[in-house]
Amino acid sequence: MSNIGSYEKRVEDFSWDTAREILNWKEGELLNIGAICSDRICRMGRGDKPALIWEGFGDRRSVYTFEDLRAYSNGFARFLKDLGIQPGDRVCIFMDKIPSLYFSFLGILKMGAIAQPLFSAFGDESLEVRLASAGTKAILTTSKHVKKVRKVRERLPELKTVVVVEGNPDRVREDEVFFDVEAGPRVDTFEVYPSGPETPSVLHYTSGTTGQPKGALHVHNSVWGQALTASWVLDLRDDDVYWCTADPGWVTGTSYGIIGPWSLGITQCVLDSGFTTSRWYRFIQDNRVTVWYSAPTAIRALMKDGDEVVRNYDLSSLRHLASVGEPLNPEAVIWSGEVFGLKFHDTFWQTETGAMMICNYPGMEIKPGSMGKPFPGIEATVLDLATHEPLQDPGKVGLIAFRPGWPSMFREYWKKPDVYRSKFVGAPDDAMPEELRTGGDLWYVSGDRASIDADGYFWFVGRDDDVINTGGHLVGPFEIESALVEHEAIAEAAAVGKPDEVNMEVVKAFVTLKPGYEPSDELELDIMNFIRKRLSPLAMPQEIEYRDRLPKTRSGKIVRRYLKALEWGEEVGDLSTLSDE
Ligand code: WT7
Repeated sequence: MSNIGSYEKRVEDFSWDTAREILNWKEGELLNIGAICSDRICRMGRGDKPALIWEGFGDRRSVYTFEDLRAYSNGFARFLKDLGIQPGDRVCIFMDKIPSLYFSFLGILKMGAIAQPLFSAFGDESLEVRLASAGTKAILTTSKHVKKVRKVRERLPELKTVVVVEGNPDRVREDEVFFDVEAGPRVDTFEVYPSGPETPSVLHYTSGTTGQPKGALHVHNSVWGQALTASWVLDLRDDDVYWCTADPGWVTGTSYGIIGPWSLGITQCVLDSGFTTSRWYRFIQDNRVTVWYSAPTAIRALMKDGDEVVRNYDLSSLRHLASVGEPLNPEAVIWSGEVFGLKFHDTFWQTETGAMMICNYPGMEIKPGSMGKPFPGIEATVLDLATHEPLQDPGKVGLIAFRPGWPSMFREYWKKPDVYRSKFVGAPDDAMPEELRTGGDLWYVSGDRASIDADGYFWFVGRDDDVINTGGHLVGPFEIESALVEHEAIAEAAAVGKPDEVNMEVVKAFVTLKPGYEPSDELELDIMNFIRKRLSPLAMPQEIEYRDRLPKTRSGKIVRRYLKALEWGEEVGDLSTLSDE
């Protein structure tokens, strides 16, 4: 029997109090995610249980118990407090998936600051934009990544402290601090910051169509959503060995690679080395992984390497599989059923929702290609594209929308109240964030299109905007275009997603060149590297098309939609508003 049991019954009897019951949490207890994921598990007598099984490149492997997690997160909390970091300050975590990432995340929360995880493959420009936006006070990084911080530090007056947590202490500069938590004395006690449900916890940056990325702010109350979904959707039990393949630079890696599972006292494994099919299968085999949460791009990459390699490994420990981040194609579901004897269960959610929203549940019939049904307690619908009224007819395509008020919902976009408000249908112009969260008849609009069938299953159609989803990672076309026009040869640029067999979409750039520059393979490579270094490998265009001019509206705005439609072989639509095509 699965944790969720009967989906219908859970929907009927639903209360978020069930999350508190599962954690055996009593009213009046401290609500601090850092402590809930470490101290509390130890207090319940499970301190000796492995919390983190970590493997890196080569044969590097370490195992940490919940007692270790407690002491090392205390170590970071104490260290940050001694540095003068205040509750509410933003502390950025900028490192690969090393153990200190996990310790520092909990440590930051324990001392009341806001954790701002950033993907370590980000280049200096991606980093700078996000640190400047958040007014980040301190950054924790490693020798490997600190160079990017040095490049932008002088432009970030609010960034007071740079901490290097791993690598060579001799290479740390005078204006930086070296701190290796495992080398120092164990910190057995730390007075955890008395956070409440609405105390900010995590700030995740996410890309939109227009403008620079926005910081989605979460609060400690999110733990109820993350714990209950981890229990009912991932079906985590006490003896599981769970593997979430996501990087905590993205929300999946924090909500389900840290908070959900550890709040339940589950053993997690982390693989901090690049993807190869055999490495992944070996990791599952060696660690006897039972529950696996991954992404369609990874599944398609495994699929491409064929069935033969699967048989070289003993993957019989696997018991439940789930996926997130992009549409999970029916072939991938069917394939996993054949080779693993288990079907991947698709889940849909976003940085903004903080936890899973529409899912396939253990025990419920999977319709391959469907995202499943709303999580119990979540009211979901699709809204008419024009009128924004909920659609009644099965199969009609509309905007996915949720009734606000679930515990892990983001509380604001950092310093962008108008953009936050614009995500809600029916919100008065002067509505405060608090009212938007609790307002009875509003809808939070996700920015995705879907239809609902007669059985209540949701079917993803596509995004309602130009944001590019490459391998489950969102990249904003505006960010890429802004970086492209900084290249000496480029006059104008447009970035769109183009179809890709494994990554669903990859970035394609259309550019016009400045006088004196000619298209060449060399220039193409130079532009690609320019973007890879400044932004990230994800944002790097896989193709660059040179044009004499780009399609524009009469007012001079580049029409990305037109270029995207061309790439996807779709109807180009009404061109009468374009001035020169
Ligand atoms: C966007 C959110 C929260 C998970 C990591 C991504 C797309 C997410 C699915 C799915 C089709 C999906 C949507 C969504 N997406 N899950 N199961 N099927 N599309 O978080 O970076 O905020 O991206 O990813 O477009 O809006 P994110």
